[in-house]
Amino acid sequence: ELPKPYQVPLPVPPVLRPKATGAGGSAASTTDTYEITQRAADLEILPGLKTRAWTYGGSFPGPTIVSQSGRRTVVKHRNELDQPVVVHLHGGHTPAASDGYPTSLILPASGAYDQQRAMSDMAGGEHGMSMDHGAMDLAEGSRTYTYPLDQRAATLWYHDHRMGYTGTSVWMGLAGFHLVHDDEEERLPLPRAERDLPLMIADRSFAADGSFQYPSLDRELHTPGVTESYMNGVLGDVVLVNGAPWPVHGVERLRYRLRLLNASNARLYKLELDPQPEGGDAFVQIGSDGGLLARPVRHDSLEIAPAERFDVVVDFSRYRPGTKVRLVNRFGDGSTAEVMRFDVGSGSPKDGTTVPDRLADVARLDPHRAAVTRDFHFRGSSDGWTINGEEFRPGRALARPRLGQTEVWRFTTNFHHPVHLHLDHFQVVSRNNRAPGAFDHGWKDTVDLRPAEAVEVVTRFTDYPGTFMIHCHNLEHEDMAMMGDFVTE
Ligand code: C2O
Ligand code: CU
Repeated sequence: ELPKPYQVPLPVPPVLRPKATGAGGSAASTTDTYEITQRAADLEILPGLKTRAWTYGGSFPGPTIVSQSGRRTVVKHRNELDQPVVVHLHGGHTPAASDGYPTSLILPASGAYDQQRAMSDMAGGEHGMSMDHGAMDLAEGSRTYTYPLDQRAATLWYHDHRMGYTGTSVWMGLAGFHLVHDDEEERLPLPRAERDLPLMIADRSFAADGSFQYPSLDRELHTPGVTESYMNGVLGDVVLVNGAPWPVHGVERLRYRLRLLNASNARLYKLELDPQPEGGDAFVQIGSDGGLLARPVRHDSLEIAPAERFDVVVDFSRYRPGTKVRLVNRFGDGSTAEVMRFDVGSGSPKDGTTVPDRLADVARLDPHRAAVTRDFHFRGSSDGWTINGEEFRPGRALARPRLGQTEVWRFTTNFHHPVHLHLDHFQVVSRNNRAPGAFDHGWKDTVDLRPAEAVEVVTRFTDYPGTFMIHCHNLEHEDMAMMGDFVTE
């Protein structure tokens, strides 16, 4: 039996303290160093039950890393789980060596895995992927990732990316926020501190004993894939926000900044506030995946696909004192139609924040300047999940974009796929040859592709030559090989 919604408080993930912080003006001194140990932990997610989770440092979500744009962030991950792991900073403008390529594993520190075993676990079974030894890049026990973070302020997140097992690992808890700030954003009079809330929305299913229930094809996790009925992605019946089921959060009658992240494996949400404030436009969107928009955009509802972020301001002074405002999912039903609740306070405190009409300078990439247009067809069938007819094979490039060159990438599909690019953000140019949709504003790194749609984006890869990923962010599709390399040069 499912717990009742709105019984537990909203947790806010702890902010991770650096192990070392460089001070001063020189390049070498502008580095912050962190350490995270990945380990199993028994968490109380459902009241009165214990859930064995895979965690970053003991919590789910993992601790939030907060960085300043242009300050290098170095994170050493130690793997005390009994599975190999890979860490990817989603939305990070990151050199290939630290980007978390799906076969760049950190083997368990226990020594339980050797190369042979790590490889056969990714290659085995019906959904295994073929590769040669050369594609493997193994670290024993720990790996250090270096993030230059030469990029705009934005809501990034980090999560597991191991070939064939990303769906399992993220479901088990390997996901956390990484926020980047910059001066342009800090000059704005936006809500901050406890009124700037990262909200990680993720659905999960639980067994009666409280354990996470994920329909792996192989319980022992030696062959990738999920059981037949979950080929379209794994959905849960419990909606977690920051790791708590349908939590409640008390708010003052003030503006709050909500950084909404859909960290679900496969679920698409249509978020609304219920009741809506008088006059509508509950959400004032100020940013998307890649940071601030040029100007705010008002919405009654938000459609948010896996891995997308919407940075919005909600003004709770538009509600009467004491109103209980539910964040609901109009695409859900029953338990998945509820997300969380905000209980509005009774006072009338002075706010002091505003949402300015001009938020940031956002350069427009001109699609007419594109040197090439590339097509990527995302196709799912009973034979498998492919991009341009190919299942993922490490080391085979689907595209070789030149650094610094403007390109148009066109995505088409027969099904629903949230399409994600590593390395750089893009701007949506068109949807079905029409203007971009209501949820396509700003710099994006994930774009939701609906059945039979064609979406064109314009992008320009910069700075880092090497191998990066294009893939579907439905994690079950990703694990079933709907992923490809692109190589910048
Ligand atoms: Cu959020 Cu390639 O990942
Ligand atoms: Cu997909």
